[in-house]
Amino acid sequence: MDARMPGVDGFETARLIRERERKRSRHTPIIFLTGAYEDATSVIRGYEAGAVDYIVKPLRPEILKSKVAVFVDLYRKNADLRTSQQNLRTLASHLQSVREEEWIRIAREIHDQLGQALTGLKMDLTWIVNRLPEDSQLLREKAHSMTVLIDATLGSVRQLASRLRPEVLDQLGLAAAIDWQAHEFQRRSGIRCNVSLPTEALQLDKDRSTAVFRIFQELLTNVARHANATRIDVAVRSESHEVVLTVEDNGRGIDHEVANSPKSLGLMGVRERVLPFGGHVDIAGVRGKGTAVRVTLPTA
Ligand SMILES: Nc1ncnc2c1ncn2[C@@H]1O[C@H](COP(=O)(O)OP(=O)(O)OP(=O)(O)O)[C@@H](O)[C@H]1O
Ligand SMILES: [Mg+2]
Repeated sequence: MDARMPGVDGFETARLIRERERKRSRHTPIIFLTGAYEDATSVIRGYEAGAVDYIVKPLRPEILKSKVAVFVDLYRKNADLRTSQQNLRTLASHLQSVREEEWIRIAREIHDQLGQALTGLKMDLTWIVNRLPEDSQLLREKAHSMTVLIDATLGSVRQLASRLRPEVLDQLGLAAAIDWQAHEFQRRSGIRCNVSLPTEALQLDKDRSTAVFRIFQELLTNVARHANATRIDVAVRSESHEVVLTVEDNGRGIDHEVANSPKSLGLMGVRERVLPFGGHVDIAGVRGKGTAVRVTLPTA
């Protein structure tokens, strides 16, 4: 493109092209050619307007040809890279939902089949005990310890199933599930959890609720493993067209670099989970004061 053109100049035209591209996330390489604006200020202006190169006349056609070839190649590679990134995101999100469906299925099978079998065993045992002769003290004691063991196993089965997929999430929704998970966490970790929930029901579908719930679990696990905190404040708020979850601890405070490092796979998973829904995650830590994570998710 020529830097000097009648009416609107090249710089302005470049700026308009970039403006329009931002909405469609494209990036056409712009090369300025000029015989008029050769000073450093104009060259800088050209680059600022979004040029990838600024060539001063007289031109050597071979040089221009090579440069154009390089930039076109770069442009193509960039587009390929973006497509491949998009494909990977789609694949990651697909794998995530396949895994979730698998968990739901396994949880249901454990709960129903093992649960029913154990309950049946317990009923049979009671049947036998009721038919034991009065003086069979030893057998009665044995039967009692078997009942205790069956009850404990039933408890473990329920716990295992609900760890895979809490029933409360499907039956009562996200807010109730977060409340339940926070209490469970407090009981197991000894870290005090204050929970603040919205008064009205959240309008979130199953996939979005699952995403926020799994994020919440990861954030709690992180606090237990890394924060050295004694208190967590959890809040779920329903704002116009979005749900906001905040989890704040009073621990050592996450490092800015660590929070944004590609090596932090757990946190990367947290960010990736909300991307398909157009949501975002902010993570901020203050050393010695704590970490605050804010998850924002559009409701539709
Ligand atoms: N609440 C927190 N307070 C302080 N540091 C934290 C907190 N959460 C995360 N971190 C830091 O950020 C790092 C990355 O967290 P991330 O969840 O990505 O990985 P991880 O928990 O170490 O492993 P995993 O892949 O099992 O989640 C942690 O190793 C820890 O150093
Ligand atoms: Mg983690």
